[in-house]
Amino acid sequence: MTFAAEKLDTDGRPEICAALNTALAETAVSTMMAQNFHWNVTGMNFAPLHQMFQGIYEDHFAGQDDLAERIKALDGHADGNLARMLERSSIVEPQVDMTSTDLIATLLNAEEILAATLKATGEIAANYGDTITEDLCIARGQVHEKFAWMLRVHLR
Ligand SMILES: [Fe+2]
Repeated sequence: MTFAAEKLDTDGRPEICAALNTALAETAVSTMMAQNFHWNVTGMNFAPLHQMFQGIYEDHFAGQDDLAERIKALDGHADGNLARMLERSSIVEPQVDMTSTDLIATLLNAEEILAATLKATGEIAANYGDTITEDLCIARGQVHEKFAWMLRVHLR
């Protein structure tokens, strides 16, 4: 006997896992970016920015694991290859030294991209009735929107 929900989830797995791998890649790139900024931020706002960037990379490091393990639960391949993650990610690391304002703007852009990627991934999962993946994507999307807010207000 096959349950309808199970069949829907199975059919959608390749597409859902592909979308989750994009979210995983972008989360990994932004994790390293936030830690890089945590190390190299300078200026009179060093202490709070150093702390805020740490909060971001610690969250994203845990988030990567949640996304990757959801892919595994769907019997997919969680692609942790760094070169392929960089290829897959539309979040691109800056190649030059930047001011603290530029660091904040760069991370804000990353958080907004992540929120959009997680929203799109959740919608793909929902189309296949995969409410578990959808729930994870909503939770991760909320975190990225919250970090986007915290970063955005620094620029006003
Ligand atoms: Fe540190």
